[in-house]
Amino acid sequence: MTFDFSGDPFTTGFWAPTRFEADLHDCEIEGDIPEGIDGTFYRAAVDRRYPPRHPLDIPYNADGAIDMFRIRGGRCDFRSRYVRTPRYVAERKARRALFGAYRNRSTNDPAAAGLSMNTANTTPIVFGGNLLALKESSPPMRLDPHTLETFEEYDFDGRMTAESFTAHPKIDPLTGEMLAFSYEARGDLSDDLAIHFLAPDGTLERTVWVKAPVVSMMHDWAITDRHVVLPTTGMVTSRERLEAGQNHWAYDPRVPAYVGIMPRDGEAKDMRWFKGPPDRAMLIHTTNARTVGDKVIVDTPVARGNFNPQFPNLDGGSFDHEARKNTIRRWTFDLASSSDTWQEEILFQGVTPTSFTRMDDRFLTQDFRWSFNLLHDPAFAFDNARTRVPMRGNWNAWYRFDHQGGSIDKFSAGPTHELFEAQFVPRRADAPEGDGWLIGVANDYAEMTSELVIADAQYLADGPVARVKLPFRLHMQVHGWWVPAHVLPFEFGRDYDYHGADYGPETRIP
Ligand SMILES: [Fe+2]
Repeated sequence: MTFDFSGDPFTTGFWAPTRFEADLHDCEIEGDIPEGIDGTFYRAAVDRRYPPRHPLDIPYNADGAIDMFRIRGGRCDFRSRYVRTPRYVAERKARRALFGAYRNRSTNDPAAAGLSMNTANTTPIVFGGNLLALKESSPPMRLDPHTLETFEEYDFDGRMTAESFTAHPKIDPLTGEMLAFSYEARGDLSDDLAIHFLAPDGTLERTVWVKAPVVSMMHDWAITDRHVVLPTTGMVTSRERLEAGQNHWAYDPRVPAYVGIMPRDGEAKDMRWFKGPPDRAMLIHTTNARTVGDKVIVDTPVARGNFNPQFPNLDGGSFDHEARKNTIRRWTFDLASSSDTWQEEILFQGVTPTSFTRMDDRFLTQDFRWSFNLLHDPAFAFDNARTRVPMRGNWNAWYRFDHQGGSIDKFSAGPTHELFEAQFVPRRADAPEGDGWLIGVANDYAEMTSELVIADAQYLADGPVARVKLPFRLHMQVHGWWVPAHVLPFEFGRDYDYHGADYGPETRIP
């Protein structure tokens, strides 16, 4: 029987599925990991276990895997595990893919009827003692944060009735609460939004239900100390699309972007929708937001149009590569005004980062200065004489943007390295904003191996202070998450045992 991945359009270089899990203790380290780094870096990745069932399947539909780098005293241990979603378990039993086009149940094998579509492949987040692997179209998968064992698809002990949960919940650093939202929250094509408020211990305490002005992809949002900010986009879907067997999304430039703002202590009637400017506003990830008097101010990368060719234009037109470029914008909403739109300022003119934007999360919801962003910088030239797979537009730089002073600092991991989203690690719990390190994964196209690279966030031009070098390549990443040891204590050097079940017993973490 032929068994190959040639039907997968993403099969070359680092995109080729790895299909393995690993435990590696005392990884090789080049340089010195700073003593102040004590905690766990998680990353969510996409990695197919089986050749795709649908001929044009996209990486967003691949199985989710979690990688874990645990760091203390200048040493690092590594572990990776697939998330045992119900989908993963069913496909493993069937020994083939059962799920079809991206978020389209009508294209699934009949054997997948009634099963969760969850891939858990977007964001890992630790909250209330749980590791949650998130995918915006499904509830969280709950995992053991030490063993990476999967426990269950999680409805917060029966408190969440929404059928989905964002991959971008926000943890308020001042209160310890987590806020999250669900879109298409009562199932495919539903215009229901749910806004969730969770106590620091992980208890879902309150959900506010509102109606969306348009059913669209709502990948990220923002919170301030007083408000939630919910953007819609022109990435839309329809029953006709799904019945035609296409993937869930297509881009329609005629659909305006709306932004809903609601007080955190408000109800559905308090949601106020603003309508976007005519030059389109495609927002994937936000950097930060704050409320100043009657104004809500959001700093965020925004593109003019479709951000990803894997989601076609609804009119069948060709993909506009200029329109996908982000600029960092400052959107100001005046709650005291009767205007139904917002003011926009483009920060850092002419600089086009990706939408992967991070900050010092201790300053989320507050006035802030620094953001850390992923992009392609042609000034960091690739050395394709040494690479085994050619590099062209790969993301190869982290930029630190000064949102108050306008300056930019730049980091490269080397001429054969691509980068993924960086996480900021404070030098100390009480260090000033931006005083610490950036950590993230780099792929080395000369060796075809992956590394964890660490840079001093205030001296990015100096390059890495340390590289944790893995003797293999990792799966392609979506988002990461840093958890300091004072938030998630662990016993370093203990060989946290995997409990051994494919789809774990529904036990609580002790
Ligand atoms: Fe995201």
